Amino acid sequence: LQNGLARTPPMGWNSWNFFACNINETVIKETADALISTGLANLGYTYVNIDDCWSKVTRDAKGQMVPDPKTFNSGIKALADYVHSKGLKLGIYSDAGKFTCQVRPGSIFHEKEDAMSFASWDVDYLKYDNCFNLGIEPKKRYPPMRDALNATGRSIFYSICEWGVDDPALWAGKVGNSWRTTEDINDTWVSMTNIADLNDKWAAYAGPGGWNDPDMLEVGNGGMTYKEYRSHFSIWALIKAPLLIGCDIRNMTAETKEILSNQEVIAVNQDPLGVQGRKVHSNGTDGCQQVWAGPLSGNSLSVVLWNRCMQAATITAEWNVIGLEAGTSVSVRDLWQHEVVLNNAVASFSAQLDAHDCRMYVFTPQAALMGNVM
Ligand code: GLA
Repeated sequence: LQNGLARTPPMGWNSWNFFACNINETVIKETADALISTGLANLGYTYVNIDDCWSKVTRDAKGQMVPDPKTFNSGIKALADYVHSKGLKLGIYSDAGKFTCQVRPGSIFHEKEDAMSFASWDVDYLKYDNCFNLGIEPKKRYPPMRDALNATGRSIFYSICEWGVDDPALWAGKVGNSWRTTEDINDTWVSMTNIADLNDKWAAYAGPGGWNDPDMLEVGNGGMTYKEYRSHFSIWALIKAPLLIGCDIRNMTAETKEILSNQEVIAVNQDPLGVQGRKVHSNGTDGCQQVWAGPLSGNSLSVVLWNRCMQAATITAEWNVIGLEAGTSVSVRDLWQHEVVLNNAVASFSAQLDAHDCRMYVFTPQAALMGNVM
């Protein structure tokens, strides 16, 4: 959606993956504080997004949505003020149906008044879900909220969450700033890898203003190993996914923080060219030895070698497969080791990887390097 937002994929935090319905204004405020104190905000994680369960079960006498007085007693406006005072942005959640998935009021047929409420609370982001949708097709249910948000005059990121029903990549580019391409992620290797593959199909439709959304990060929630989480984060960055942290950042381990704070990996995600990287090669059992790659601005490329096999493997990126001309000499920078590991790779590049591990690189052609100097 060309509304001036989402020139690069959104970055921030969302309450759902870790807290589900156990949220309240203290959790949200402490999370905002933690984004600042951990340095994550400085790296670009600025959206603080409240998911389902913030609202009272019924609308008030005037038909307005009301924050749940037991958990958000100070109201959403006060929370937005708090978050804004830290230089962060506030996100909220509703549903293009009669109820949200946790059976709070939905916004279908209330788009205008709800958009007005969100804008009057100074909300910056809306995630719009798909439960209790009355069997009406998403193509009909999602545009009214776009129009209602637009009519408020406030810049509000519009996140379409209809789980990939009816191939949103084909139509949502004009409707929202991101669209989910799959069902919900869960904190397992199987879920994460499946989603990466399903989302890959829609790569051509992503770009500045509108992004494929393979769902939020599970890094730090405990269901995967360090190597698996590093793979999850590297691939989400390469495929230009929203980087919405889904763990309790008030209590991160050093490893979780290290993964989420990798500035070089974040830079790939936030590269201004905005082209989604793709799976360009796979072999081995069930195609478990994989190469993912995509172009970056300045003629560089980002490349992920991903070993999804159950045992160690050597994986090779061939120039023709990643889109480099034969004979091109590139410098290879490893984004997890934070150093150039080879100055003049020609024709192909290989690495040995443990099971479920990945390597992430920026390949810079020598010609582009010289260009930078001149
Ligand atoms: C759906 C969405 C999730 C989350 C929950 C909340 O399942 O896809 O991301 O928002 O609803 O109930």
